[in-house]
Amino acid sequence: MLNHQYTRYALATRGSGRGWQLLGSTFAAFAGFLSWAPVARGQDSTIRAIQNIFDPLSAPAETLYQVSLLVMAVCAVIFLVVGGLLTYAIIRYRRRGPEDDHEEPPQVYGSAAIELAWTVPPILIVVMLVLVTARTIGEIQHPKMPDTAEEVRIIGHRYWWEVRYPKHDVVTANEIHVPLSSRTNRLPTQMVLESADVIHGFWVPQLNGKTMLVPNYRNTMWIEPYATGIYLGNCTVLCGQQHANMLIRVIVDTPEVYQKWLESQKQAPVSDPQAAEGQQQFIANSCGTCHHIENARGATGVFGPDLTHFSSRATLGSGVALNDDQHLRSWLVNPQDLKPGCLMPNMQLSSNQVDSILAYLRTLK
Ligand code: CUA
Repeated sequence: MLNHQYTRYALATRGSGRGWQLLGSTFAAFAGFLSWAPVARGQDSTIRAIQNIFDPLSAPAETLYQVSLLVMAVCAVIFLVVGGLLTYAIIRYRRRGPEDDHEEPPQVYGSAAIELAWTVPPILIVVMLVLVTARTIGEIQHPKMPDTAEEVRIIGHRYWWEVRYPKHDVVTANEIHVPLSSRTNRLPTQMVLESADVIHGFWVPQLNGKTMLVPNYRNTMWIEPYATGIYLGNCTVLCGQQHANMLIRVIVDTPEVYQKWLESQKQAPVSDPQAAEGQQQFIANSCGTCHHIENARGATGVFGPDLTHFSSRATLGSGVALNDDQHLRSWLVNPQDLKPGCLMPNMQLSSNQVDSILAYLRTLK
């Protein structure tokens, strides 16, 4: 039995960052275990796993962070004033002895000054927060996109992410490569989010806020990351049994590395005569009904992830396990073992079939 529980935990927790460093070092052992994962040349393999809004590394996430700081600061001041007055009243006017029981405190009926004080400032504060929030929403929803902006179409499925690059005719799954943006070379990525079945939620906290993927509807959002690395995110809407394992990896590459990645994804896989048997088994066992592979006759399915460059991805099952031979073998033997409830059935493959299909999948880089 594979130790996939730990793998998953490591995938989700490895990382560094304020406040999370302790957790990060606690799981350093798991991190080391992951360090072999296939990483394209020049790619930054830093895992950015902060699952809160307080460590933004992308333009819209930064804007949201600043607004939330303002709101929290205003709330903190209100809390201190109200809490302070309350504490003062409790202490100053507490019961001091039995003699207090016979005396009635001064009775005050109405005070224009006090009523204005607790009505007007709160209204002003709320109006100020409304204006700042409205301006921020405007900035995030209607950004000025340069012509260089990259475009990615993300389609949520139970329980994985289809990723398409319409400008480049590239299709992949679960691992979303985007370019790094900088002041001198702005390269934001515009994302169109759709769903093939139920409502999903796309959230990579260090890049932007949450966006829903709704059937028959197109939502959009954008990111403009200013640090390379592998950003982790999750599906945020309960979409079924494997909702928790609908993990997202956004890989931010320098523009050069990103271009190289695009080029390699555009290539059709080189057919390896040694993998012919595996390809035959792949088709004979109906894998091609759900999975598409470029240049493989009969592999034209759209229900499962595109496998044309399957072995260039670091994880399988939408981040449930590392894409190493051990986990891939387990997946081929029975996907329900690593990911119970996923929509890929146990294909009842013999161990010879598993071996040859595994060898074939490894040629798809
Ligand atoms: Cu998809 Cu939760």
